[in-house]
This record gives sequence, structure tokens and C-alpha cells, in this order.
Amino acid sequence: LDEAETLSPLLGASGDLAKKKTFPALFGLYKNHYLDANTQIIGYARTKMDQATFEGHISKYIKLKTDEDRQALPKFLKLCSYQDGQYDKDNDFQQLEKSIEKLEKASGATARLFYMALPPSVFIPVATSIKHNNYKKGVITRLIVEKPFGMDLESSRKLAKDLGALFTEEEIYRIDHYLGKEMVKNLMILRFANVIFGSVWNRHSIDNIQITFKEKIGTEGRGGYFDEFGIIRDVMQNHLLQILTLIAMEPPVSLGAEDVRDEKVKVLRYIPPIAKNDVLLGQYTKSEDGKEPGYLDDKTVPKGSKTPTYAAATLFIQNERWTGVPFILKCGKALNQQKTEIRIQFKDVSGNMFTNLARNEIVIRVQPNEAVYVKIMNKEPGLGMKTVISDLDLSYSSRFDNALDAAWKIFTPILKTIDQGEIEPIPYAFGSRGPHGVAEFVAKHGYERSNQEYNWPNHSEA
Ligand code: BG6
Repeated sequence: LDEAETLSPLLGASGDLAKKKTFPALFGLYKNHYLDANTQIIGYARTKMDQATFEGHISKYIKLKTDEDRQALPKFLKLCSYQDGQYDKDNDFQQLEKSIEKLEKASGATARLFYMALPPSVFIPVATSIKHNNYKKGVITRLIVEKPFGMDLESSRKLAKDLGALFTEEEIYRIDHYLGKEMVKNLMILRFANVIFGSVWNRHSIDNIQITFKEKIGTEGRGGYFDEFGIIRDVMQNHLLQILTLIAMEPPVSLGAEDVRDEKVKVLRYIPPIAKNDVLLGQYTKSEDGKEPGYLDDKTVPKGSKTPTYAAATLFIQNERWTGVPFILKCGKALNQQKTEIRIQFKDVSGNMFTNLARNEIVIRVQPNEAVYVKIMNKEPGLGMKTVISDLDLSYSSRFDNALDAAWKIFTPILKTIDQGEIEPIPYAFGSRGPHGVAEFVAKHGYERSNQEYNWPNHSEA
């Protein structure tokens, strides 16, 4: 789409995703001059609202840090308009077509980018309506779809088949917003552009790898959506698994999308489905001070739901590079802090010359405050030969079909077991570190928590 001036109907514009993520991201692109100045954005959703209400809705999560931001916002809002309509009514999509044509005439836009910020239940009705009413020969048309791509292997395949019947592969973009994060994009560079990392990146040196996602917020009114999916489908099967593949894959032939995808698929195919013993689930309850509600207090959550809001799972990659190295994925809502982090823990040093050695670790913090640091052992200054943990700070703060199938194959059996209520979620208080037993779960797979003092305020651990 590089050369084309675009027009972007954003479907689901009144929803949570549009408000929290999509419009703030579009604003970010606009203010950094990545959006063509003639781009027009039309919000479309079922809710009736006037332009002022719409502008209030989409500005709510846009952070205005500088004067430049404050000046850019009204200009950005001028590019945005809103139209209400049902998701399966041709008439309503005909109305949308009229608005699109009018704006195309005025702005000279030559491409249409339909962004589906929608629950998966309406992906196909909406895609069908677009195909029937808004698809024109000679106009570049693209459809952007966000996860969840189905509920399991079967529904994901059906979704792919149904979408494939309407649009070509080239016309469909499936996106995972974690792949846009700076530190996630940095993973390939760290691994493949640094000899010192590249040569130790395997089972001979690495003991275990943890990928942790923690959020302070609970479901916050999204309980209806969340309860149907649970934390594994919401975060682990997509965002954390994408990170895992970037950490574990072999170097791709090139940075081209297909070459990278091929290597990712290879890694996924080496991972057997997750075993029941390798999963720990939790569900948050009221905070200890009673101020924050428990998951089941959310009115949009069905009574007595057993949907997990916390999950830890261990995956194994049975290939030459990784056999025997546990990849521990942990994610949860309503925890004590917000953090996404990758922690690569190395094996013990052989021999027993020194006592009280901590293991080397490479820590890559995805958010907040991006950082990479390496924990190494040093001599404590002074006459003795005592060792002390120090770090090499490399901070950064200053500044698909096949793949889907392979990803679902790993998670579908365990999700079925969970959906049948065979794994009881352990309650944990809103704002706590998570369910009891997580430390033991992680230790079972070899992670060693160092008992040496390690004071580095910038890099607090959880
Ligand atoms: C989304 C999940 O995909 O990612 C949300 O549906 C989660 O539940 C969000 O809050 C987290 O994204 P980020 O970029 O805020 O870490």
C-alpha cells in the first residue's frame, strides 16, 4: 500500500479495542507523519452517536504529552468520521459505501483498508457485507483481522476457509500487536546480530526460559468477551507464543515475511501439545482491601464462571537446539504490576570453586521501560574473593495460515480439558503476585531464584 492514499473504514469503532488501542495507534502514526495526510478514517459500529460523542470516545485513551500532540489532535480528528449501522445489513453497508465514495472523491484516496476491531462472531458477517457492498474492481482492498482467530484448531480452520472464500490471501492481513513492540522487533537483532548471544542460544548453555505478562487491570467491563475466551486464548496462544517463536527459531534466510514465517512454523511444529501437569490456572478475587472487585463480581461475567484469568504453562521444543529446555509462559490480569518480560536463565557453572553463585540471566523487558540486561557474576570489591551479582546494562529505555494451525495444535487439547472444567483455577487476590504455587511451578521446571542480594532500582524483579 506504500504508494496508495488510503481510506480506512474501521469496523467496531465504538468498542474497547478501537478506543484503547486502534485510535491511539492511528494518532501515533499521524503525528509521526506515517499516515498520508489525505487518509480518511470512517468509524462504523452499531451504537448511535454524533460526531462530538465519537471524538470524545476515540480521544479518551490518546495521551497528549507535548504541545505538538495537543496541536495535532484536532487535525487528526478532522480525518475521522462516524457512521452507525448493523453488521449484517446490506442497506447499512450501502450507506457506508456512499460515504466512502464521497470521501474518495474529495481526498483522492485509492485504497480501502477495512480494519475489523470486532468480536470474532461477526468477522464473517462483516466480511460478507463488505464483499457484497464495498468491494470494487480496480480499488485496492485490504482486510485487517485481529486475534482471536477462532477458539480452537477447528474453528480457526473454518474461519480461514470462510474468509478465504471472500478475500484472497494477499487481501487479508492478520495482525498480532505484540509484534509491533520495539523489544519484540529487537529480538531478531539481538540474537542474530550479536556473536556473544548467538553462540550461547541453545540447550547446552540455557537452563530455562520464562516469558511473563502481567497486567494490573482486571476485565474492566470486557468480562463478556473475556469469559468466552480466557487468558490462554486472550494472551498466551498469540502474544506470548509469538515471542517464544522469535526467541526459539533458527535464523531465517532473509527478513522477508515468508522466510520468517517458515522458521516460526518450524518451531511451532516441534512443540507437542501442552500436558495437563504443565499448566497452572488462577482466577482473581476481590483485592485484599476489598476496593477492587473480583472477576466474578463483574456483571458481564456469568455466575460461577471457571474461566482462568491467570495461566502458567510449560512448553517444550523437541528439536536439536532446544530439547530439554522448558519455556515457561505466565500471564495474568489483576496482578501487582504491569510488565512483560523475557528471562533467559543459563545453566550452573561447573565445578565448585565458588560458593553462592547465581546463574547468568539475560533479561529482555518488553514493557514498560524497554531494557535488555545481562546478569553476570563479579568479584566483590575488597580483599576477599566473594562473588557478587552485577549486570551488563544494555538498556533501551531512552528511546500465518500455517502458523495459526501449528499454534492452535499446541493449545487445543489443553483448552478442551480446561473448557470441560477439569482444571480448577486457584483463586488469587486482585493486585497480588498471582495464585499460590506459581513459584513452585516455575521451580519445578528448573528456574532458580537467586538468594543473593541484588539491588538495582531500575530493574526490580517480580
Ligand atoms: C490484548 C488482550 O490482545 O492485549 C488484552 O486482548 C490485553 O486482554 C492486551 O490487555 C495487552 O496489550 P498491551 O499492549 O497493553 O500489553
